[in-house]
Amino acid sequence: MEIEKNNKIIDIHSHLLPGVDDGASSTDESVKMIEMYIENGYEGAILTPHFRDKYRKSKSELELAFNELKNEIKHRDIEFELYLGNEIYADECTVKNVNSGNICTMANSRYVLLEFPFHSEPAYANELIFELRASGYIPIIAHVERYSYIHRNVKIPYGWIENGALIQVNIDSFCRSKNEQIYKTAVHLLKNDIIDFIATDSHSSTWRSPNVKNTLEMLLKIKGEMWFEEVIVNNPQKILRDEVITRDLFEMSLYDNGLNGRSLLKRILRKFGF
Ligand SMILES: [Fe+2]
Repeated sequence: MEIEKNNKIIDIHSHLLPGVDDGASSTDESVKMIEMYIENGYEGAILTPHFRDKYRKSKSELELAFNELKNEIKHRDIEFELYLGNEIYADECTVKNVNSGNICTMANSRYVLLEFPFHSEPAYANELIFELRASGYIPIIAHVERYSYIHRNVKIPYGWIENGALIQVNIDSFCRSKNEQIYKTAVHLLKNDIIDFIATDSHSSTWRSPNVKNTLEMLLKIKGEMWFEEVIVNNPQKILRDEVITRDLFEMSLYDNGLNGRSLLKRILRKFGF
């Protein structure tokens, strides 16, 4: 297996949509990024503009920009699939906001991409994950390796998983030179098979650019073809098909963790009288 053009890789986290957040600043920049994606083996991307602070474009505004970009690449005869989503900053209003239908789920599926605070562990995280699952959504926690409280306690995401979340890591976090703690956390998550998705979180052709072929090749070499096929190729495709990605709960129960009493596994066991 080689990383080459026309691989069926879909990037699930990108700021490729121009002029809506701190990502691509123009259509030309978006096109430049798309050409890089194609060169690096991608066939498409889910566009996930921020939904946080000053970046809170409505769904209809995002759809308008999205359709313009789609038309532009069609006009330029570029073959690249685009899907719309949001990267939603998680707070106490998230469940209400998602349920309102005014936020874009990923490629119109039941998956939602959540960004957590960077420096203080959100007390509401497990409740939020549970509430979203109860409402029919599947939360994916964005770039888990970048949160400073995860550097101090790498077991925290295990609890998020047990409550029904999936885990995304940024591909540039595997570059040691950028930040040692982020690198170490990303490697720990990779070694322990905690990662469901690896995405670029690209913001431009220079800021976390889609030029990631070398890292993809390194991941393929380290983790093997089966893992690569599953995490890099199949899991993103499952989002597009709105197919549920399952984790083995028995495997989960083997994790050495200090979870609170609200884990999904414990809830299920309790429900069945264990
Ligand atoms: Fe992002």
